Amino acid sequence: MKDIIIAPSVLSANFADLKTELKRCNESNIKWIHYDVMDHDFVPNLTFGSKILKDIVSSSNFNIDIHFMVKVKTPVFEDFFEEYIKCKPKMMTMHIETMSNEEIQKFYNLCIKNNIMFSVAVSPKTEIQILDNWLDKLDNVLVMSVEPGFGGQTFISEVLEKVKYLAKNKKDNKFKYIIEIDGGINDQTSKQAIDAGVEMMVAGSYLFESDNFKEKVESLKNA
Ligand code: DX5
Ligand code: ZN
Repeated sequence: MKDIIIAPSVLSANFADLKTELKRCNESNIKWIHYDVMDHDFVPNLTFGSKILKDIVSSSNFNIDIHFMVKVKTPVFEDFFEEYIKCKPKMMTMHIETMSNEEIQKFYNLCIKNNIMFSVAVSPKTEIQILDNWLDKLDNVLVMSVEPGFGGQTFISEVLEKVKYLAKNKKDNKFKYIIEIDGGINDQTSKQAIDAGVEMMVAGSYLFESDNFKEKVESLKNA
């Protein structure tokens, strides 16, 4: 059986007790943390900047997966990422919908230069073929299975067609990217996702709203 990566989304964590929340992740053999940055522009919600991430990385050893749901303006493109890069994330994900081709190229260069996994996200209404020219360079593709913006939404199963498309392309062309899914993941939807070819799953409310974090993590892997 393939080892599925589970990345808890700290968006659903209790921020008044983040230390305990990270401890729950650690005790559940979690290796990755998913960090949702929202700007109240690209999405209708506002979350956190780099300071909380800095505190997380200084007190733990997780691989960090930053999911930027933001619009980034061209003149400050590189500057915007500076404080996040200092946190040494393993992977950075930008939404394909917010970037011009030139900006995708800049983002790719930035990731290469800083030894960060290059990842892009696609919202539910975005066609997956938009990524065709980048598939050979991507380290990860994040398929959104809810509209980006909020935790606790219902899984949109139609996006599994995109997962299948990515899985087929990966196999046929020996591409290296990981297929990640984000939104509405629970013990039922994780099974559908894994069957379609997902290799990494983000889960927020399903894990953090539970009293038995470890059991829930296992239920996702063994779905
Ligand atoms: C939504 C975020 C997700 C969210 C997932 O825009 O990108 O990472 O936190 O939360 P759940 O698992 O509750 O759908
Ligand atoms: Zn996310």
